[in-house]
Amino acid sequence: MLPIDRESARRVADTYATAEAAGERARTLELLAARPREQVLVVGCGPGHLVDALAHSGSLVAAIDPDPYMVALARERCGDRATISQRGLAGPGSAPDGPFDAVACLQVLEFVDDVGASLRELHRVLRPGGRLLVLDTDWASLHWPGYGQDRHRLVRDAWCTCIPRPRLPHELGPLLRAAGFTGERAERVPMRGPASTGYGAMLREMVARSVPGRCGLTRDDADAWASGVAACGDEPFSLDRWFLTAQRG
Ligand SMILES: C[S@@+](CC[C@H](N)C(=O)[O-])C[C@H]1O[C@@H](n2cnc3c(N)ncnc32)[C@H](O)[C@@H]1O
Repeated sequence: MLPIDRESARRVADTYATAEAAGERARTLELLAARPREQVLVVGCGPGHLVDALAHSGSLVAAIDPDPYMVALARERCGDRATISQRGLAGPGSAPDGPFDAVACLQVLEFVDDVGASLRELHRVLRPGGRLLVLDTDWASLHWPGYGQDRHRLVRDAWCTCIPRPRLPHELGPLLRAAGFTGERAERVPMRGPASTGYGAMLREMVARSVPGRCGLTRDDADAWASGVAACGDEPFSLDRWFLTAQRG
């Protein structure tokens, strides 16, 4: 999974500065509803935009991410306003002990191998009644513009095989309940933007790099697909993300 070096980490970080990402962050802050002095854990903080926003609004923020380049970018952004550690969420003991009033885990669980164990670990570090906010993508909802929808579908199927849980939002309810969470609510977040710039361009490159050798696709197939999408200019791609909120029972 991205990033693999400092440059790609910066490219990923740039996508968090887009208007779409800022809008999603605003909704994240509303749903998290963190009050000043609350202890908040951000899991998979990436380049640290959410950590910084939470710290500025008075929360006491701890954050983790296993990627050294992302941790460096997040520390650069947040200075000493948050505690940012290089570690990944997995099984027991992988998260800081807390107890936390709220945990935000955005676009991380779909990439972890054992979602159940990860959710149990988040349950462990939340105080009773503490709030969990999760965001993940339904990758089967991904649509690209232009001619050749059958080829888009094949590329999407191949891309879905690269992600451990490509349809996680639709599987999360029972997993949350099994981990001890209650009162879950889901909110769909449609994302739509130009396929040839910003997040769309980054996603197109990431998909084209990842699909060769999957679902019968070759490197030439992937390159031809990516060029076809790029030729669509400002025509939009679209996908659905889902917020899920729940409380520690
Ligand atoms: C798609 S980015 C999302 C960044 C950020 N959460 C956001 O939504 O803006 C996924 C992030 O999760 C991190 N990550 C991957 N596996 C993880 C794990 N097991 N625990 C915590 N973070 C992880 C990656 O390093 C990356 O920074």
